Amino acid sequence: MSGEGPPELPPALVSTLRNAKHVVALTGSGVSAESGVPTFREAQTGLWERYDPQELATPEAFMRDPRLVWEWYQWRRELVSEVEPNPGHQALTELERRVPSFTLITQNVDGLHQESGSRNVIELHGNIRRTRCSGEGIVFERDEVSAMPPVCRYCGSLLRPDVVWFGEMLPPEALDAASEAARGCDLFFSIGTSSLVYPAAALPYEAMGGAAVLVEVNPDETPLTRHADYSLRGPAGEVLPKLVREAFEPGNG
Ligand code: OAD
Repeated sequence: MSGEGPPELPPALVSTLRNAKHVVALTGSGVSAESGVPTFREAQTGLWERYDPQELATPEAFMRDPRLVWEWYQWRRELVSEVEPNPGHQALTELERRVPSFTLITQNVDGLHQESGSRNVIELHGNIRRTRCSGEGIVFERDEVSAMPPVCRYCGSLLRPDVVWFGEMLPPEALDAASEAARGCDLFFSIGTSSLVYPAAALPYEAMGGAAVLVEVNPDETPLTRHADYSLRGPAGEVLPKLVREAFEPGNG
């Protein structure tokens, strides 16, 4: 294999995908890297360089300094609003059209899967574009934030980003739906995630328990790699379009 371009794809995997009935893809921040969104564990840039995300994305940080936390989220919200889905997102959208049943489970809060046109998306960690009243829990879609920190227009409580912070529970319905999809699928993709953060990181093992074929797409090794039936080492934006093309448009490979 040359050092350039996506890896060669095993023909057995291409045919497994072509014949799969229920496919699940779990994505992490690596899938948005090629859109220009820094991955979660990458160094922060510019103004935010000296902050550790694990110290900003917590309920304690928000209680201590809501303005600081909101300024960080505003920076990220602006960044996300300026970028576009990349060929990795688009390949997953295409996959949803091609396989009989497809569930996309994402840890990403950037909304780029939906922007790409994916429909059946389970958001495990919320969405940065929404806000939520920290008093009554009302969720506001695509809310513009002007005052800093913003407050709920109905009750005056602080608004927070509608995301899951470190130490918080995942939305139970989302986690249940993700688990059920993982246990019932015949092919499971883990894409662009370091596979370090639970409970999301447990989903591939649940899929294996249900006898799914497990595929990892990541340029680097992760704790999941040695359990995967196929480890495709390359960027999602190159590997996924090639895989979808070879499985469903073999003439154009
Ligand atoms: P990480 O930053 O931990 O991992 C990103 C992964 O993407 C790494 O394994 C990279 O090797 C891989 N990667 C980088 N570029 C890639 C590319 N072009 N194609 C494919 N893979 C690429 O991010 P996550 O695994 O998403 O949770 O982190 C999981 C959760 O940890 C986040 O959702 C966040 C954080 O705690 C919360 O905020 C609750």
